[in-house]
Amino acid sequence: MTNLPSSTRVIPDVARVPRHIAIIMDGNGRWAKKRFMPRIMGHQRGVESLRATVRACRDLGVEYLTVFAFSSENWRRPVDEVSFLMSLFLKMLEREVASLHKNNIHLKIIGDRSRFDDKLQKTMNDAETLTKNNTGLTLTIAANYGGRWDVMHAVHSLLQNHPELATSFSEEDLQPYMSMSDAPEPDLFVRTGGEKRISNFMLWQLAYTELYFTDTLWPAFDRKELEKAIASYQNRERRFGRTSEQLASSQSKMNEGEPRA
Ligand code: IPE
Ligand code: IPE
Ligand code: MG
Repeated sequence: MTNLPSSTRVIPDVARVPRHIAIIMDGNGRWAKKRFMPRIMGHQRGVESLRATVRACRDLGVEYLTVFAFSSENWRRPVDEVSFLMSLFLKMLEREVASLHKNNIHLKIIGDRSRFDDKLQKTMNDAETLTKNNTGLTLTIAANYGGRWDVMHAVHSLLQNHPELATSFSEEDLQPYMSMSDAPEPDLFVRTGGEKRISNFMLWQLAYTELYFTDTLWPAFDRKELEKAIASYQNRERRFGRTSEQLASSQSKMNEGEPRA
């Protein structure tokens, strides 16, 4: 397993187009309510926004897209809505996996799957197996995922495999057991739907991610909205704890090596 550098240990390289975008797809229910439709219609339309976002990320050269589809707290919703979301998830996987594969997309699912029914678990596993060697965009869907669950699960797995580390372990020891261990940390976080909170998404990995919030409801999110988020990201100064002056001097040192015009 690769051990990718952590942003708190090594200063990462920053590219103009974010390598990894993480999205909380929020606002489906409100989108539907505004149209006097049941909430589930918003979830249904949300699948189309996801399809458009995947395509846009692929075209723009984004390498990793991670989306929050169902949180560990979403089980608190009315039973009918939860069961609709489960069947939508299953249908979406069955319907889309061939086209994801054709487009060289590597599909991954993170979260605690043990609470899903057998058929959904099998479909998830099959979709991952089919696309596991694809080299294009990595699309990760977080389902029954929670940031705290992720950290707790990683600590348990580490200690199960390495009981000798119980009294002392490092970030590097833990990292391979986190669910996003194969991906760089997100450069850009997007939350649609107007709320300004993390809602237990990727707590560990968002340490130095640039945050972007939009009032646009997820079913109305499209390529233009994604481009707006990326444009905002491109205006940020990612200091990772350093000063602006340090950044400017490392930039000018880099430029000194380049031939003059
Ligand atoms: C996000 O939209 C989808 C899920 C959480 C599954 P919501 O269903 O939270 O929509 P709002 O926030 O109620 O409008
Ligand atoms: C976060 O949205 C989870 C997903 C989008 C899957 P929620 O709608 O569940 O978040 P809260 O309850 O408003 O914080
Ligand atoms: Mg919501």
